Amino acid sequence: MQIFVDTADLEEIKEAKSWGIVDGVTTNPSLIKKAVEKLKDKGMEMSMEEYIGEICRAVDGPVSLEVKGIKSDDMVREATILYEKFNHINNNVVIKIPISTAMNEGEELFEGVKAIKELSEKGIPTNATLVMTPCQALLAAKAGASYVSPFLGRVDDYIRERLGMKFDKWDIFDGKLLRSIEEKRREQKNSYDEASWISLSDEGIYDGVELVESIIKIYRAYNYKTKIIAASIRNAMQVRKVAEMGVDIATIPFKVIKEMVSHYKTMEGMCKFTEDVVDEYRAIFEQ
Ligand code: E4P
Repeated sequence: MQIFVDTADLEEIKEAKSWGIVDGVTTNPSLIKKAVEKLKDKGMEMSMEEYIGEICRAVDGPVSLEVKGIKSDDMVREATILYEKFNHINNNVVIKIPISTAMNEGEELFEGVKAIKELSEKGIPTNATLVMTPCQALLAAKAGASYVSPFLGRVDDYIRERLGMKFDKWDIFDGKLLRSIEEKRREQKNSYDEASWISLSDEGIYDGVELVESIIKIYRAYNYKTKIIAASIRNAMQVRKVAEMGVDIATIPFKVIKEMVSHYKTMEGMCKFTEDVVDEYRAIFEQ
C-alpha cells in the first residue's frame, strides 16, 4: 500500500518525507487555507505559486492539487493552468476534481464527471474527490479518473450525525457494530414493512471502511485501472482495515501517521532495553 501525506503544510511534508515512507501528497482548498494561515502567522515569505512549486519539488510521487471552479469548462481550464504551472517541476501533478459540484438540489450534477472525462482524454491525470458512495466511484472510473478518493471519515461523520451521536473528529467508528444493532432491531419486527423502516446505514454503507471495501469489489469485477485512495482518514484503525483490504493508497494526516508508529508497550520496551544495556555490550560500540 502506498502512503500519501494528506496535508499542504510543507514542514509536515518534508518531515514525513524524511521518515522514508511517503509516496505522494494530497491537498485540497481547506488544507491550503490551513497552511497559508500558518505561513501568515510566521510571516509568509514566498508566493502561493512558489509554495506549491516547493511542495511538488519536495515529493517524488503524485501531488494532488484541486480546482476551485464548479462548471466543467472552468475546471478543465483551471486544471490545465495547474498542470502547466507545476507539472514541469517534478512531473507529478494530479488534478483533483469533485465527482459532483452541485451544492443544492436541482443544480447540475455531472460537471465533475464531464471534467474528469475531458481531462482524461487530454492525458491530464485526475483524482476524483469528495466520493461518498460506491456509485460515484463507479462513475469516476468510467470517466477515466486516474485516482478516486472515497472520504472515509466524512461518511462516518454523516452516519453518526444522522443518528444523533456525539463524537470527536478523530474517534473510531465501527460500522459492523451498527449493522448488528440494526439486525437486532429488525428481528423484533413482524413484517417487512415494519422492519424496512429501521435503517441505520447510508444506503447500505455502514461506515467509511465499508465504502472502500465496496469500491475495491466493483473495480476488481471490471478490472478498472483507477487507483483507490482511502481519504479523509481519522485514525490508525481505519488505515489497518483498508490495508487489509488491499487498497492501493491511503492518504493520511500527519497526526495519524504518527499514531501508526506509536504504542505504549513499544515505549515501555524501549525504556527497559535502554536501561538494561550492560557495560560489556556498550563496549562493542565504543571505538
Ligand atoms: C484528501 O484527498 C481529502 O481532501 C482529505 O482526506 C479530506 O479529509 P477531511 O475529511 O479530514 O477534511
